[in-house]
Amino acid sequence: MNIHVVLGDLATQQVDAIVVNLFEGVQRPGGATGAVDRALGGALSQLIADGDLKGKPGEMVLVHTFGKIPAKRVVVAGLGKSDKFSVDSVRKVSADAARFLRRHNCQRAATIVHGAGIGGLEARGAAQALAEGAIMGLYRFRRYKRTQREDDENDTGELHELLVVEGMKERVPSLEAGIAAGRVLAEATNLCRDLANVGGNDMTPIHLADAARDTAERHGLEYRAFDKAEMEAMGMGALLAVAQGSAQEPRFITLRYRSPEAPSDRPPVALLGKGVTFDSGGISIKPAEGMENMKGDMSGGAAVIAAMGAIAQLRPPINVVGIVPAAENLPSATAYRPGDIVRASNGKTIEVVNTDAEGRMLLADAICWAKREGLSPLVDVATLTGACAVALGPFYNGIMANDQKLADKVLAAAKRAGELFWQLPLTDEYKELVKSDVADVRQTGTSRSGGAISAAQMLHAFAEDTPWAHLDIAPTYRSDRDRGPLVKGPTGVAVRTLVAFAQMLAEEE
Ligand code: BES
Ligand code: MN
Ligand code: ZN
Repeated sequence: MNIHVVLGDLATQQVDAIVVNLFEGVQRPGGATGAVDRALGGALSQLIADGDLKGKPGEMVLVHTFGKIPAKRVVVAGLGKSDKFSVDSVRKVSADAARFLRRHNCQRAATIVHGAGIGGLEARGAAQALAEGAIMGLYRFRRYKRTQREDDENDTGELHELLVVEGMKERVPSLEAGIAAGRVLAEATNLCRDLANVGGNDMTPIHLADAARDTAERHGLEYRAFDKAEMEAMGMGALLAVAQGSAQEPRFITLRYRSPEAPSDRPPVALLGKGVTFDSGGISIKPAEGMENMKGDMSGGAAVIAAMGAIAQLRPPINVVGIVPAAENLPSATAYRPGDIVRASNGKTIEVVNTDAEGRMLLADAICWAKREGLSPLVDVATLTGACAVALGPFYNGIMANDQKLADKVLAAAKRAGELFWQLPLTDEYKELVKSDVADVRQTGTSRSGGAISAAQMLHAFAEDTPWAHLDIAPTYRSDRDRGPLVKGPTGVAVRTLVAFAQMLAEEE
């Protein structure tokens, strides 16, 4: 979809539809909505007076213009109460409006920048959220579908062009900058979604590495992936234990972004993502119901790959290394088993308890590698535990850290990105959960209680004192329905938080 800023008047645009908005409780619309109302002879005011247009959040009212203006349709998007309005509302309303336009077969549309008028938001941030919402909200995964089946109601055309109409010339550059940044972030999120949507048959560790190499070539990152023999040489026994049950070779994928402006005394930051391309549970096999969604168990890894691509385009003055340990978790005659004791690449031994706790095995070796490379801080992203989803429900993701300042920074980045994270405790009390009778560390806690935290605690045993934060995205790596910028299926969560985090770290000094 093209998004252009146009200097001019919304009401005179030659498009299939124009989008205006309304705050809840407003009787006489002002600004661009007021101008369109006047051009329509007061039709919008009349709809408000008649109670058919209220400005409620999520409300979309379609008005036909009968030749009064060049556009055939006006869509009025409800913004809700003005005191609750934020850039997050812009992202949501933009996504809802874009899908509404597509459903009504509009190929070209023009819109005002929601919130940049009486909403009081700064133009750049509002335009960024507008672009993010539209591009994320229109996402569809069609790689495996034959195109244009007429009987498929989901097979409407595409919204090809969105004109962002602005009356004030001096605002145009900020709007353009916001849209450009929003496009990078939204397209990165959509890339992450694509990778998670592909079936495990076509998204093996080698395919995931290929996707990382593609991203590297496209945006100028350094790419290097280690194969099984190289991992053996590095002693990555935890990662290799998971991989040994599958015919698919594991990969240890790395992407490097180097900024010439990065301070030379500062180590590169590491972003680590769990890359389990399919998680059956292994010998501790999962129940059949819902197992198909475990093709998305590489969502953390995909988020890191996609975020690295966005970072390469937005060029913050900081060095960043993306790390994605990738393997498939299957039961077989060669699979690792409960009771196995394996050695990670820092020499620590792990008592395997449940082969379905495979993500932490991969991340343990990834954390060891990051530390050996001198990277700091470390931020990992993983669909790590069902327990985290049980604890938090389907809206917030978990964050745990060994360094509160770092946790606060990641939380601030998430807030900027409009993604929801809630911190769970990781204090010394929890250390005993991963004590083993026979090895240096036990893979899982001894009971199901606090499962998100015991998983983090196992990783903590590898991060040790290096500043580290762990994002458990099991709660929201998929959405069960379209919800603002999220569409049903993989969400691409954490991509925008990771990018914002790198940008905020770079701004800091
Ligand atoms: N990938 C799963 C966690 C998961 C479950 C993510 C559902 C998204 C949705 C992870 O590998 C796993 O199986 N974790 C186990 C850990 C347990 C065996 C200690 C879990 O959550 O049950
Ligand atoms: Mn598992
Ligand atoms: Zn898993």
